[in-house]
Order: sequence, then structure tokens, then C-alpha cells
Amino acid sequence: MSYINILTEQNGYVLTITINRPKQLNALNKDTIIELSEALTNVNDDATIGVVILTGSGDKAFVAGADIKEFASFDIENGKKLAAEGQTKLFNLLENLSKPVITAINGFALGGGLELCMASHIRIASDNARMGLPEVSLGVIPGYGGTQRLAQLVGRRKAMEMVTTAGMITADDAKAFGLVNHVTTPEELMPLANKIASKIIKNSPNAISAAMRAINANYIDGVNGYDKEIEEFGNCFGTPEFIEGTSAFMEKRKAEFRK
Ligand code: CAA
Repeated sequence: MSYINILTEQNGYVLTITINRPKQLNALNKDTIIELSEALTNVNDDATIGVVILTGSGDKAFVAGADIKEFASFDIENGKKLAAEGQTKLFNLLENLSKPVITAINGFALGGGLELCMASHIRIASDNARMGLPEVSLGVIPGYGGTQRLAQLVGRRKAMEMVTTAGMITADDAKAFGLVNHVTTPEELMPLANKIASKIIKNSPNAISAAMRAINANYIDGVNGYDKEIEEFGNCFGTPEFIEGTSAFMEKRKAEFRK
């Protein structure tokens, strides 16, 4: 598939997607959202992809938010549509993807950019990254799930302050808040993302997806996460990967899940 606003590069089981609008600080316009949605949908269907690394082009920004120039003339109906379609097509799709997505935050992650990070599964940041939800400074609020996921990740107290002040936090603060998993230098950002990815791909693809569904179940209204865990745990016992994993343990060899 060929894209205009994103670059994709597959190395073994790891697909790196780079949002590539550096002159606009990789702001998420409609076309970029559609392309990311298509690329991630393809990830779900492609057995040769085990992990995705998502990053931004250039050394300044991961993503500086939704494209303000594109929505500046919208009315109420268009505003609701922008948020609803974005959430369904990209942010919820990303959160519920069957493979882990690591965001490598290489600079500004603001508004929709931070919302993209928060919908992903593992976040690592370079020490020059700055994160925030500045939407109220524009007269709007976060619309791609930010009010919900930020409070889930850092707690209501910090989320209230970050959103109402529209301020930016440093990568170190983000780590202290529990918003990112690791902070590293800009040079080490992609090597660290790849190192984490290489650990993930050693494990059972089926079990990884099942575990992600069970963890996410805690955040779905009306779903009992413990019941979901029991169901997913049991289902693992019917898979060839379970046989391979347990046999490899008993035979004192490394399991080979991806042949
Ligand atoms: N949308 C559209 N264009 C953007 C953009 C955005 N979110 N962020 C940056 N750009 C563009 C700038 O307009 C500029 O383009 P031109 O050269 O064509 O004018 C280019 O990127 C470079 O940006 P700056 O000159 O502003 O760079 P800077 O270093 O002076 O400032 C910045 C960097 C602090 C990140 C600043 O660009 C900024 O504040 N950007 C907007 C951040 C923001 O408010 N994000 C939230 C968007 S709303 C949202 O995301 C809603 C939602 O939840 C759905």
C-alpha cells in the first residue's frame, strides 16, 4: 500500500510507522488519520507483523495535535463528527489492536498527538519531548479520547490540572506521572523501541492478543475483567502456541512461536 502522509518500514516482525508531515509538526489532518487507520487495520490482518512502532518525522515533534487549520472553520455538527470519526477510525482501533503498538515520542506530543500516544500500549519518550493537552487554549476540549484516557493513566487530579492549564510537561514529569514507561536520549529512542519490540516478538502472538483484550476489558462498561481473563486464559489452552510454549519449557529449549 502506498501512503502520502505516513511512511511504513517492516523489519522482521516489527513495522515502524512514521507520521510524515514534519513542516506541520506532523499534525493529524483527515488524510493522515485515514492512512493511519488503514495501516493499522492491515496490521490486524497481517501475520507477518507482531509489533508496531509509531513515531513522528523530524527531530521536533511526534505529533503537535489535530490539524487546527483544517478544523478552524467547523460548526458544532462538524466538530462532533470530527471527534466521533477520529475516535472510531483511529484512536479506538489503535487501543483495541490485536498487536502491541509502542509510541516513540520524539518531540512535541500535544492534543491529538498525546491522545494517540495514550491510545497506544507502550509509550517511550526522548528527554526533549514535551507533552500536553492544550485544547482549552484554543476554545475546545480534547476530542480524541484525551479527557478519558489521561485521567485513567495519571489520575483525575493531575488530568484536571494538565487539561485546565493547557500546559506542557517534560518527559521526566510524564514518567513520574506514569504517563510514559521510559525516558531516554533522542539517539537511543528508536533503539529502545526496537529492543522492547524484539522482546515482545519472542512471545506467543495469540497469548499477547488475549492478554491485551483482558487488560482492556477493565475499561469497558459492563464487562467484568476477571471473567474476561478466565475466558481468555481458558481459550489459550486450545491453541498450538500453548502446546509449543509448555513443551519448550519441559524440553528445556526456547519456544518458537513464529516460524
Ligand atoms: N495544526 C496545524 N498546524 C500546526 C499544528 C497543529 N496542531 N501545530 C503546528 N502546526 C504548524 C504551524 O502552523 C507551522 O506551520 P506554518 O509554518 O505553515 O505556519 C508549523 O507547524 C510549525 O509550527 P510553529 O511555527 O508554531 O512552531 P513553534 O516551534 O513555534 O511551536 C508548538 C511549536 C508549540 C508545538 C506550536 O506549533 C503549537 O502550539 N502547536 C499547536 C499545538 C496544539 O494546540 N495542539 C492541539 C491541537 S487541537 C487537538 O488536538 C484537538 C483534539 O483533541 C481532537
